[in-house]
Amino acid sequence: MTNDITAAIETALQRVSDAASLDEIDAVSGETLGKKGVLGGLKASLANIDDIEERKAVGRSLNEGFASVSAAIDERRQELIAIERASQVAGERLDLTEAMDTASRGHLHLVTQAWQELEDVFVGLGFTVAEGPEVETDWHNFEALNMSEGHPARGEFDTLFIGHDEHEDAGDSGLLLRTHTSPVQIRTMLTSEPPIYIVAPGRVFRRDTPDATHMPVFHQIEGLVVDRDISMADLAGTIEAFTQAFFGEGFTSRLRPSYFPFTEPSAEFDIRRPDGSWLELGGCGMVHPEVLRAGGVDPEEWSGFAFGFGIDRMAVMRHGITDIRDMYVNDIRFIEQF
Ligand code: PHE
Repeated sequence: MTNDITAAIETALQRVSDAASLDEIDAVSGETLGKKGVLGGLKASLANIDDIEERKAVGRSLNEGFASVSAAIDERRQELIAIERASQVAGERLDLTEAMDTASRGHLHLVTQAWQELEDVFVGLGFTVAEGPEVETDWHNFEALNMSEGHPARGEFDTLFIGHDEHEDAGDSGLLLRTHTSPVQIRTMLTSEPPIYIVAPGRVFRRDTPDATHMPVFHQIEGLVVDRDISMADLAGTIEAFTQAFFGEGFTSRLRPSYFPFTEPSAEFDIRRPDGSWLELGGCGMVHPEVLRAGGVDPEEWSGFAFGFGIDRMAVMRHGITDIRDMYVNDIRFIEQF
């Protein structure tokens, strides 16, 4: 019987070290240590040994066998658990090299980011996006906006003319680089019927020497609404809704009386930051009847409001940039901060 025990233990230990999975080790465990297992069976036959001393001796070696097999099973089980966990981790590992490549590819320009977010907010408020040319006619940029030749307000726009000859005024070609996005108001009214709800972001140009707050090339976003019974309250409500959607909780807006030839009444609008400080953002007002007429819209039937503000300004303000020129020199030490 002692030989049977030794052989059974040897077989069991071999099976344990051959077990290649947790399922296999469970099976080995049941088939050797279990009640109906090999060693269990031998235990039952102890009763057939008549000599009490022999029975004790055989029982002892059987117990030792149980102990060594069950220790071997535990050890092999731990190994198999570690192996299975390692292969699971390997299977779930993410390849991050792709994400790293994207990061090193850079990001959109700060002005482009602000531009796209502004579009998103206004589209969310029900506006569609319109555009117009950067090379404009004098008529669209000034005349149709209630600034005919000689109007003093023209002097405020330091205009870059195209094909400018010896004349001081509008160039011979009648073309210029648009000084604001407001000519898109005219183009939109001429090509579509009210109701009109558009925003027009784009590049604008002024003959300005670059400094911390000015660039000769910058960006504006224009808004135009033409519908029935549009009032100043609709304008104020839209500016406020925009302020909260774009800047977030805690920001609010106000209108201050101002003057633009193409709106009447006119206002500047300011944004109030949560710390109580005010930021001047842009101009707005009710579209002047002459401007509606220039756009082919009957001011007796329709009314509207318009607004326009600088995108570059919003970008520097959001990021706490103190010199607007920094956004355009492409210094990697600056760019990488955003
Ligand atoms: N076009 C004006 C500017 O550039 C802003 C403005 C737009 C004002 C629309 C009123 C209405 O200063």
